[in-house]
Amino acid sequence: VDGDPAAGKIVFNKCMACHNVDNEKSKVGPSLMGLIGRQPGSVAGYTYSKPMVEFGVGKTWDEALLKTYLPNPRAMVNGTKMAFPGLKTDKEIIDVIAYLNQYSPR
Ligand code: HEM
Repeated sequence: VDGDPAAGKIVFNKCMACHNVDNEKSKVGPSLMGLIGRQPGSVAGYTYSKPMVEFGVGKTWDEALLKTYLPNPRAMVNGTKMAFPGLKTDKEIIDVIAYLNQYSPR
């Protein structure tokens, strides 16, 4: 992961209305604590959309998959209930991935 986690913390302000990352409590969206390395659509007790659960089968959230998802979530997971248009720049994306990575097991 080559982004800047401190810059990514600022980018995460765009996500915070719907996601926690420093604890396991889901909000409108699932907690993103431990995201990197887990299967999409797999937080216990959180009700995902059917498309997200089906998308996740056999996949793992890693840097490459997040780089595809974050610019346009609905394009990658057609029918996702994540109501967020996506991050605009490659820098925002690599930085927020570096920030999320700090809250994932290694
Ligand atoms: C799902 C990241 C912003 C609502 C997800 C997932 C990721 C993610 C990686 C999949 C989680 C999993 O598989 O467990 C982000 C990032 C954001 C952001 C990095 C900011 C750049 C938002 C915002 C909202 C939101 C602002 C609310 C308006 C949701 C919802 C889901 C979700 C509802 C579940 C989707 C489904 O089941 O189809 N998000 N998100 N997210 N997010 Fe976000």
